[in-house]
Amino acid sequence: MSHDASLQTLAVHAGEARVKSDYGIVDPIHCSSTFTFANSAAIISMLENGEERDEYARYSNPNSRTVEKKLAALEATEDAILCTTGMSALTLLFLNRLRPGDQLLFFDRCYHRTRQFCYEYLEQFGVRCKAIATGDFQALEAACDARTKLIFTELPTNPHLDVIDIEALAALGKRKGIATCVDTTLASPINIQPSRWGIDFIVHSATKYLGGHNDLLAGVLCGRTEDLASIRTLQGIIGAVAAPHTAYLLQRGLKTLPLRVAQQNKSGLAVAQFLAQHPKVARVYYPGLETHPSYHLARKLLKGGGGLISFELKTDRHGCSRFIDAVHIPKIGPSLGGVETLIEQPYLMSFYRASKADRERWGIDDALVRLALGIEDTEDLIADVKQALDVL
Ligand SMILES: Cc1ncc(COP(=O)(O)O)c(C=O)c1O
Repeated sequence: MSHDASLQTLAVHAGEARVKSDYGIVDPIHCSSTFTFANSAAIISMLENGEERDEYARYSNPNSRTVEKKLAALEATEDAILCTTGMSALTLLFLNRLRPGDQLLFFDRCYHRTRQFCYEYLEQFGVRCKAIATGDFQALEAACDARTKLIFTELPTNPHLDVIDIEALAALGKRKGIATCVDTTLASPINIQPSRWGIDFIVHSATKYLGGHNDLLAGVLCGRTEDLASIRTLQGIIGAVAAPHTAYLLQRGLKTLPLRVAQQNKSGLAVAQFLAQHPKVARVYYPGLETHPSYHLARKLLKGGGGLISFELKTDRHGCSRFIDAVHIPKIGPSLGGVETLIEQPYLMSFYRASKADRERWGIDDALVRLALGIEDTEDLIADVKQALDVL
């Protein structure tokens, strides 16, 4: 299937054989841990001709190969590597690209486990990890030197939904000869395809929008075939390959990605607008709102604002918990991007043991709420949030 087809068509068909095993319309789940050869000549033929087949499931399996092709089509990249989690996709990239003495630059408002991996593990191996204030391109450029091998950012950032100008990021990388990587987990390829802006590597926690049903853990790294080849080898050595059942679930989830994200974009904007005019809400972070500092960049780069909204209530942390306990539709829990709406108070969920200074540094107000919308009816969601605000 041509990469020029619309994302809605690619989501359903890309990567899949037209006629499948036993003529089924869906791919079977291949549970094999090993794949056999008819005879010794078949092994030689695979090795000599680079045949696309599997040999041992720690390297790849038919289900992950199919879904990798679909993901590459959705990201408009040459290739994609399916991994066990988003973190394994990201750490494989860092471990592969960075050597002792190299420098990694990253915008600081990123997933806290990414920062933890950089400081607690990469630095142990002699890689310098330098955090730059999110969006400060002057500081980023000033920090680039001959040792800098990779620049990383998330887009949008979590939980404040800052949008980074990845066109400028890609241009900087090209000018300086430094590879660039963007984690667009919170946007999904429906809202942005970073390769079209010149970014080298795209990473996702496929656990979120891509899987979309809160029933799998997976990650994906997309980019040029040439750049991904040695990362795929590393993956085969470490064994961070997604299980066939996970790949099957992801393939199934991806078919409805454009429909789900369209609904999440619609609800995201409507709920954010509702919250922005509510007297008990102090501040709303949503890139589709004109009041958000990234509004203009979001208009340039994103096709939709997504399903994640963060907002601060005019109350203390106890009042915030009361609000969260009063909602009926959202379930209380971390994660985002699935069909079920989730809600959390970052103060409790991720920063309970953090110091006040750290919470202030990362902009975590005691009464900050993170609402990750699912695909429920928009008006039902607004009505539910409204009745919970009435409790305050
Ligand atoms: C932006 C972002 N990137 C990466 C990850 C890691 O993904 P996973 O949980 O699939 O390892 C997360 C997880 O919450 C995330 O929010």
